[in-house]
Amino acid sequence: MASTQMGVVRAPGRVNLIGEHIDYCGLPVFPMAIQRSVRIAFDARADREVQLGNRDPGFAASTFTLTQQIPPARAGDWGNYARAAGQALIQRFPSLRGIDALVESDLPIAAGLSSSSALVVAMALAILHANGVTMAPLELMDLLARGERYVGTAGGGMDQSIILGAQAGCASRIEFHPLRLTPTPVPAGWRFIVAWSLVHAEKSGAVQQVYNERTRSSDEARRLLARRLGLPESTTYPALLEAGSVEELLEAGSTLAGQFARRFRHVVTEAMRVGQAEAAMAAADLAAFGRLLDASHASLRDDYEVSHPELDQLVELAREAGAAGARLTGAGFGGSIVALCPAGRAAEVLAELEARFYAPRGAAGAAGRYAFSAEPSGGAEVIRA
Ligand code: GLA
Repeated sequence: MASTQMGVVRAPGRVNLIGEHIDYCGLPVFPMAIQRSVRIAFDARADREVQLGNRDPGFAASTFTLTQQIPPARAGDWGNYARAAGQALIQRFPSLRGIDALVESDLPIAAGLSSSSALVVAMALAILHANGVTMAPLELMDLLARGERYVGTAGGGMDQSIILGAQAGCASRIEFHPLRLTPTPVPAGWRFIVAWSLVHAEKSGAVQQVYNERTRSSDEARRLLARRLGLPESTTYPALLEAGSVEELLEAGSTLAGQFARRFRHVVTEAMRVGQAEAAMAAADLAAFGRLLDASHASLRDDYEVSHPELDQLVELAREAGAAGARLTGAGFGGSIVALCPAGRAAEVLAELEARFYAPRGAAGAAGRYAFSAEPSGGAEVIRA
């Protein structure tokens, strides 16, 4: 075994502030990276094996070889996210050698904070670094977004982009086709509280089917709408938004069959909220940002139907505790909420969630583990060579 290239890489989780379930429609989103992360200590090997261990004994060791077609482990196996990174890279750099990798993480799993994409990104950076290979960040974001579909989820490109491209202290608007990140500083007096609903939302498990169904139905809504407007069926969402005013689009969308009308309305109104939220942050208008979070949650719950009663309850409690607004974040169906409040109110919001959500569910002492104030953090990096 060669050990010329050792190191430690860190890839943060992310919380999406607004722009939910629209990245795969090619529309901008507005997430930030958080202080919790996946870290991998790695050591280059002379052969093409990847030997994967995890500090958490709940995750069994896993081994694979960097071949052109890496066979997946059984569905739901955490090692498939590492394989996804390997498979994406090997198609670009066919002669990469493997690594010994030890993973540790303080990111809650299946909580809507992108622990899986953080693992994909950390793994990719570890393999690249061990091989002395570099890639342009935008190219790597795109490669890994496509690469993660290896696990069977038809995800968009938000997670890998923010995990790689975040700037400390900022949230970023991410545009697609072409990919571009534009940071906005998070006002010093704002706190984004993240709180887990205690409902697991496993992207490679039960959530996969419903998630993939949403990507299909939003695309079908787009196709139907384009046809109704006499536009080519290939007209993309960004092109639709340029073709008419929002009012015209919503009017036309309301004539689609029930479910498609609702899916379409979510996509269009959420896209509007992203631009408005970015402006509200730049203007440090906390109340306006809060109202947009509330509107996003209602749209995700009623039109896109990706909420869960426990998420709705958390959102309500956060608002009652003094948050300016709150909504589910990530894919939904469980996972976490994000709530915005003034810095001086954060401790109170966390204490209220502890008393009114976690304690009654037998998870007393959870604020801290399951609910915390998210710090806008920098993107993935090799922290020790
Ligand atoms: C998951 C996907 C993202 C995005 C969100 C919903 O996190 O990985 O690409 O679609 O769901 O906004």
